[in-house]
Amino acid sequence: MTEYRFLKACRREPVDRTPVWIMRQAGRYLPEYRKLREAHDFLTLCKTPDLAAEVTIQPVERLFVDAAILFSDILIPVEAMGVPLEFHEQKGPLLGKQIRGRQDVDSLKVPDPEESTPFVMEAIRILRRAFEGKVPLIGFSGAPFTLASYIVEGGTSKNFIQLKTLMYKAPQVFHALMDKITRTVISYLNAQIAAGAQAVQIFDTWAGILTRSDYEEYALPYTRRVVAGLTRQGVPVIHFANNCATLLPSIRTLPVDVIAVDWRIPLDEAATIVGPDKALQGNMDPTMLFHPPEKIFECVRDVLHRGEKASSHIFNLGHGILPPTDPENAVAMVEAVRSLGRKP
Ligand code: CP3
Repeated sequence: MTEYRFLKACRREPVDRTPVWIMRQAGRYLPEYRKLREAHDFLTLCKTPDLAAEVTIQPVERLFVDAAILFSDILIPVEAMGVPLEFHEQKGPLLGKQIRGRQDVDSLKVPDPEESTPFVMEAIRILRRAFEGKVPLIGFSGAPFTLASYIVEGGTSKNFIQLKTLMYKAPQVFHALMDKITRTVISYLNAQIAAGAQAVQIFDTWAGILTRSDYEEYALPYTRRVVAGLTRQGVPVIHFANNCATLLPSIRTLPVDVIAVDWRIPLDEAATIVGPDKALQGNMDPTMLFHPPEKIFECVRDVLHRGEKASSHIFNLGHGILPPTDPENAVAMVEAVRSLGRKP
C-alpha cells in the first residue's frame, strides 16, 4: 500500500515535505464547481454520488493537494435525523424544525447511515477507486455541539441565544439532544470509515463561542464520546475548532491524532500548548489569499516556520477558503508549500 505523506504526517511519522490540503477546497471559488452548480442545486450535488465524486476530484486536479476531502456538508446527517434542510443562496442553511422541549428531541431519529445517507458511502467508494495510489480521502462530520447549534438556532446564528437558553434553562433537554446527535455522529463516521475514508475530520465550527468552562461542560464530553466510539483501524482523527485558541488546553486532552487550528493564534504558540504528542494542522488566514502571489509565498514561509515547533505539521488554511478567492492564488499557496516545505 502507498504510504501517503498526509497520513504519515497525521501519525507524526517522518515525511519528505509538509503535506498540504485546503478546507473547503471544493466549492464556489472554482469555476468548474460553479459550472456544475448552474445545472444542479447544492443538495443534489451532495446526494448524487457521481456528482459529489466529481466535485471532490476538481481541486485535486487543479491544485495538486496531498489529500482530498469528500464533498458533502455537515448538515446531511442532521436531515437524516428528521430535521428538514434547505440551502438558501444568501441565508445559508435553513433547518425547518424547532427543538425546544423534550418531545421535540424525542421526535428525532438516530439514523442508520447506510440506510438514510447511502449516497455518502457510495461517493466514498467511488472516490477510493478513482484516487487509488494518488491521494488519500478524508471523511468528516460536524462535532455534536456545532450540529446542535444549527438544529436549535434553525441555521447560522450571531449570538446563539436560542442554543444558550436551552443549555442554561433546560439542561436535561440540551443533554438529551447532544446524546442523540453524538450517537448519530459515531455511526455516521464509522460508516464512512467502513466505506473507505482514510482519515476523518471533526468540524467544531462554533465551539469558540463558549467559555472554556462551558466548553468543558457542554461540548467536550460529547466530542470525547465520538472519538472513543470510532472503530478507527488506524484511521487518523483530526479535530478542528474555529476560534480555538482559548480552548486548546481542553481540546488537547482529546485522544485525536491531529489538532487543526484557526489563524488567530500563531502556530508555534499553539504547538507549545498542544505539546509533542499530537500533529498540528493549519493555519494560514484565508484572507491572505487576497494578497498577490509574492506575498502569499511569504505568508506560507511564516506558517511553515512556526509549524516547525509542532512534532508534525500539515499545512492548511485556518478556516475554509473564501468564495471570492482567485484559484490561481490557491495554486500559488500549494506550490509555495511544495517548494518551501521540503525536509532536509
Ligand atoms: O472542505 C470541503 O471541500 C468539503 C466540503 C464541505 C462543505 N461544507 C461544502 C459546502 C465541508 C467539509 C463543509 C462543512 C461545513 N458545512 C461546515 C464546517 C466547516 C466550516 O466551514 O466551519 C459548516 C459550518 C457547514 C454548514 C454550511 N454549509 C454553511 C454555513 C453553508 C453556507 C455558507 C457557505 O459557505 O456557503 C454551507 C454551504 C456549503 N457547504 C457550500 C459548500 C461548497 C456552498 C454551497 C453552494 O454551492 O452554494
